Amino acid sequence: MEEFEIPEAIREHREIPKKSGLPLPLLAVGVVLLGIIGFIFVRIFLPASQPTPTVVDAPTAEPLPQTKPKPKPKPTPAPNKEQGNLLGHLPYDVASESALVPVMANSSLKMRPAAASKFRAMQAAAKADGVSLTLISAFRDLKTQEQLFFGVKEQRIQDATKRAEVSAPPGYSEHHTGYAIDLGDGNAPATNLEKDFAKTAAFGWLQQNALKYSFEMSFPPDNIQGVSYEPWHWRFVGDRDSLETFYKVRN
Ligand code: DAL
Ligand code: ZN
Repeated sequence: MEEFEIPEAIREHREIPKKSGLPLPLLAVGVVLLGIIGFIFVRIFLPASQPTPTVVDAPTAEPLPQTKPKPKPKPTPAPNKEQGNLLGHLPYDVASESALVPVMANSSLKMRPAAASKFRAMQAAAKADGVSLTLISAFRDLKTQEQLFFGVKEQRIQDATKRAEVSAPPGYSEHHTGYAIDLGDGNAPATNLEKDFAKTAAFGWLQQNALKYSFEMSFPPDNIQGVSYEPWHWRFVGDRDSLETFYKVRN
């Protein structure tokens, strides 16, 4: 039936639902959708607003992950570029007089107390084994080292490089530290400060026993500093200060 055939009253009646808003099924879908959106909203935002449980509150729970930032690794100490080596010798501070003691009661030779005490014990042990360890040199100040390096260099008519093979320039001698000593064999004094000291009983005994007293040879053959082999020259490395003195990074 075409519209113009419907009576006017009836036509008005059929138009009423169109003006009253959404149809019922559409309204139901809207309500369901709103419910879903609301549910999602609650799931996302509600847990965040709840207090975080602590380990004390939940003793059986896994420990909470560490939130503390890891401590930064300590930087490797930079080599001291201002204090380079000189002709293979390293710079050393000169020990103050007050830091030194006489090695023997009747001796003018001085060392730091810990090193002097260990030397005395080592000398006594060598003596007990029938070996005569003699102390030729210990602490040296700048003036003494100056004479040894420049004075002897002139006497022997040597250039600086040649002299530095066996002697450190002032400011660069291990003897400044109060930890280094030159040793001889009381039964073979002709070998004092000579390579032949390596053939003596005293040297053999030192090789076997010196480390028991924390003494080590500073300049063995082919040492890293390129200093000539000095079998008579030993240094104490038996406490923190002496260890740092000789082993801290320096270039
Ligand atoms: N005799 C060594 C090289 C020194 O004085 O350090
Ligand atoms: Zn020496």
